[in-house]
Amino acid sequence: TRRLTTADLAKMKAAGDKIAMLTCYDASFARLCDDAGVDSLLIGDSLGMVLQGHESTLPVTLADIAYHTAAVARGSKRPLIIADMPFGTSQVTPEDTFRNAVPLLAAGAQVVKIEGGVEMAETVRFLTSRGVPVCGHIGLTPQSVHQLGGYRVQGKTDAAAEKLKADALALQDAGASLIVLEAIPEALAQAVTDLIAIPTIGIGASAHCSGQVLVLHDMLDLSPGKKARFVKNFMAGQPSVAAAIAAYVAAVKDASFPGPEHCY
Ligand code: KIV
Ligand code: NA
Repeated sequence: TRRLTTADLAKMKAAGDKIAMLTCYDASFARLCDDAGVDSLLIGDSLGMVLQGHESTLPVTLADIAYHTAAVARGSKRPLIIADMPFGTSQVTPEDTFRNAVPLLAAGAQVVKIEGGVEMAETVRFLTSRGVPVCGHIGLTPQSVHQLGGYRVQGKTDAAAEKLKADALALQDAGASLIVLEAIPEALAQAVTDLIAIPTIGIGASAHCSGQVLVLHDMLDLSPGKKARFVKNFMAGQPSVAAAIAAYVAAVKDASFPGPEHCY
């Protein structure tokens, strides 16, 4: 097996094949996800919450993401590896953002994920024109939690929906390979997915996206407290973690997840 590339994911969207992505932070889970057929593993800055116990993703460092990216790369063979650029490492100049992406690629990331739309397009173009593939992330962007006033659904007004479409087009035009859509209404997720050629990966954005992502610890029911509407416990009724991950992959592939109960 060879590792999937951004071109493989683009082909999947064109062919109508759903992309199954999960967050992953270590080699053991990476192997389980790989064996279960997960197409892409995201070393998300959600590790600040689920591994480190922080209240938000804001304290996560570049060294943290690089460490976990190296472990996931060692533990897997086929999934496309995407590493989050943590808070403070991409909200700077394009040059500094490029410099900050270097340790993530050195650790084994094939793609870096950057939160933001139109305002990040110049940075995305700088990276993609210099050989660094980028995944965008728009809608609910957790690194902006204080600006957004909490973790809430985005794109609900006509103006916000138009801004989101402009964000998606700007990211695509800047060379982004794919875009995560987080916590937006179903109709808007469908409109954005139809508007752009590159794959959309939804989390709280309906089954109309080109693929789905969830935080691994959330879908295995390892995260305490109230769950977001879009989280489904795939461990329920399953005999093993491997079976739960396989059930997630199957549900994403046949578009039975997310259902209406997981959507906005
Ligand atoms: O950090 C993360 O886990 C993410 C996904 C939820 C998209 O950014
Ligand atoms: Na993230």
